[in-house]
Amino acid sequence: MIIAIDGPAASGKGTLAKRLAAHYGYHHLDTGVIYRAVAHALISQALDLRDEAAAVQAAQSLDPATFDDPALKSHDVGSAASIVSAIPAVRAALLEFQRDFAGKPPGAVLDGRDIGTVICPNAEVKIFVVADPKIRARRRTLEALDRGERANEAAILADILARDERDQNRAVAPLKPAKDAYLLDNSHLDIEGGVRAAIDIVEAVRAGR
Ligand code: DC
Repeated sequence: MIIAIDGPAASGKGTLAKRLAAHYGYHHLDTGVIYRAVAHALISQALDLRDEAAAVQAAQSLDPATFDDPALKSHDVGSAASIVSAIPAVRAALLEFQRDFAGKPPGAVLDGRDIGTVICPNAEVKIFVVADPKIRARRRTLEALDRGERANEAAILADILARDERDQNRAVAPLKPAKDAYLLDNSHLDIEGGVRAAIDIVEAVRAGR
């Protein structure tokens, strides 16, 4: 069983995916972390984010043990990840890792931008999470403040809009709902409400409704 959760930055898809995986006892992969790790590797070596050879090299030598490094969570690394993720060779280098993960028994929940369209086009359940950009910016601001970082909500909103634009309009694996994805508007749901809506979708698909 594969559950694919896609959606824009700060839509709440990561929290939803984690909670769904816990509910069903499945493995969870936040695929954004992979692109963040590649971006972070380049930044720490002071390399250009558009340096294709270096980015592919970083993607090929990815170490999953680094995925919980708090440095990967920052807003700046997220924006940098959006840039390296537009390089087709980087996406190609990361494909197999994601597909292998998706095949883990008894099931897996993957969240990202292209899980339902490219990584797991045969996923049994596909959910595309959307939320109003202003609400996403507010959530990201509160999260940053919570981590003790400084945060400027207007700048975060501008950045989220720029990131949406880049993620939706890149040539390879752009952010868009798969034809058979269920849309889940998370703008006015709290975490529990979002989780319940997602479980309802999974149960409806399983029951063949
Ligand atoms: O979900 P996130 O904010 O951690 O993702 C960071 C960037 O990585 C995002 O702006 C685009 C890229 N990304 C991607 O291209 N494909 C994915 N499956 C996940 C993330």
